[in-house]
Amino acid sequence: MARAKIALIGAGMIGGTLAHICAREALGDVILFDIAEGTPQGKGLDIAEATAVFGQDVALKGANDYADIAGADVCIVTAGVPRKPGMSRDDLIGINLKVMKAVGEGIAKHAPEAFVICITNPLDAMVWALQKFSGLPKEKVVGMAGVLDSARFAYFLAEKTGVSVQDIHAWTLGGHGDDMVPMVRHSTIGGLPLPDAVKAGFLSQADLDAIVERTRKGGGEIVALLKTGSAFYAPAESAIAMAKSYLLDQKRVLPCAVWVSGEYGLSDLYVGVPALIGASGVEKVVEFTTDESEKAMLAKSVDSVKGLIEACKQQDPSLA
Ligand code: APR
Repeated sequence: MARAKIALIGAGMIGGTLAHICAREALGDVILFDIAEGTPQGKGLDIAEATAVFGQDVALKGANDYADIAGADVCIVTAGVPRKPGMSRDDLIGINLKVMKAVGEGIAKHAPEAFVICITNPLDAMVWALQKFSGLPKEKVVGMAGVLDSARFAYFLAEKTGVSVQDIHAWTLGGHGDDMVPMVRHSTIGGLPLPDAVKAGFLSQADLDAIVERTRKGGGEIVALLKTGSAFYAPAESAIAMAKSYLLDQKRVLPCAVWVSGEYGLSDLYVGVPALIGASGVEKVVEFTTDESEKAMLAKSVDSVKGLIEACKQQDPSLA
């Protein structure tokens, strides 16, 4: 059987890390696509040479032409620019929206059967625009944010309590911004919902409150440390988990930005919810029970997402 083909649209920090993981795990042959000439070719060759050390038979190729992504099974999109000091939210949307248009058209023409995972920020608006520009089925276009935000939440809980990250299941829903919704009642340490874990003495309520706040600002914490860029290891791992669930039909339930049509009382937008990912793409949205406070937090987060979508529509009337 032919190996899967994985197209990485954007060969920057996350794109390069994705290529490395795909090769080490032999998930498939990799095309690194970028508008920058030389970067995707250089990273592709570097990792291809490494395959002779770690012993995996996969091919890697750099490309500047969308024709090279032809027939890709999965496309992971990181193309775009990061927000720089002095750049407004609308400036960022304006630039990355044009990138999504080019990427969406490239995927529609050359890889219309692919499962597409968008990482470019502002995530919830960019994945929405990418689906519109590509015209691909909504269940085949998803955004990566919740796996990352939930991983940060889980890691902070593990660090504080000393419990293995393997036995902590954390969930964040909503948009990928400071008003994301860490789901305290649904997240567990050794099977105990967090409020029970507090009662059992694993951590104090103050510790839990601080972790929720740190999770919300997790992206900014890394930017402040790196100074010249944003996180790339954990974002890449998060997208790989989603790609694997699709390629291997694992049917994992992962928090992803997906198109909602009625779930959680929401429709006609992309927002972070638990989604079952299998060979057909998004096969089901899992609806958590939500209390009044969770509903209110989710509504606030969704309002922010709607604001981003409105800004996209204003910048590109074809999306209205
Ligand atoms: N088509 C293809 N690639 C593009 C385009 C385009 N139109 N415009 C920019 N790129 C490429 C850049 O040349 C660069 O190599 O996208 C790549 C982005 O890489 P980085 O700047 O290193 O960004 P990275 O850290 O990988 O993050 C990518 O993910 O988390 C988000 O906010 C982050 O939106 C950003 C994205």
